[in-house]
Amino acid sequence: MKSIIPIFALALLTSCSAEQDSEPPFAAASDTGEALQQTAGANSNPDEYFDTDTSVLALMNAIIQPSALELWQAVRYVVTAEGVEEDIRPQTDEDWFRLQASAISLIEAGNALLIPGRVMDNAPLDPDYPDYQYRPEEIQALVESDAESWRTYIKQMQFFTRTTLETIEEKDLLGLMETSAAINNACQGCHAEFWYRPNN
Ligand code: HEC
Repeated sequence: MKSIIPIFALALLTSCSAEQDSEPPFAAASDTGEALQQTAGANSNPDEYFDTDTSVLALMNAIIQPSALELWQAVRYVVTAEGVEEDIRPQTDEDWFRLQASAISLIEAGNALLIPGRVMDNAPLDPDYPDYQYRPEEIQALVESDAESWRTYIKQMQFFTRTTLETIEEKDLLGLMETSAAINNACQGCHAEFWYRPNN
């Protein structure tokens, strides 16, 4: 079993070397971009290639929350009044594959959140505390005024999910529990800045 420190140190090394090696893939991506632009017409805006009609709220509910829950609930005990009832952990190849798919979905949902022009939607309000969350137009304005912070939370979510993905590929149960729990800091951090109104 691994302790948390070597896992994170390894993850940092991996992410640094990925950054250093990023030049050739970028060049290749921009070649593809140019080819697409030629097909689509010389003046087209690359952002127009994306369909951003799915709102941030819908992405949270459809992909981000269910994928994160899969990871967070992968290893757990179901306890009843009579004692431990079930000891749940991934066992079959299918279990591990499902976890892998959830981690990949979460990383890619992060990319979807990074696409400019993503629409906001009206989250259902809690009737008892209608003012606890920002309205869509306020969230939009906050994202525009602090885009760097928005991106940082997404990168954080992707970083810890990528690390979790590595533990899944190694079938490292303890690592999976530790690293998947760390993803939650990114969720909470972003919600505290962009979703919940302060002092509510
Ligand atoms: C980059 C910022 C950001 C990150 C990272 C983020 N969220 Fe969100 N999330 C939001 C915003 C903004 C809203 C509110 C959207 C709205 O009201 O339109 C939201 C709303 C939600 C909702 C509310 C759904 C509802 O119907 O009320 C859930 C659930 C949620 N997020 C789960 C998560 C989980 C789980 C994670 C981490 C795995 C996460 N989010 C990461 C920005 C983020």
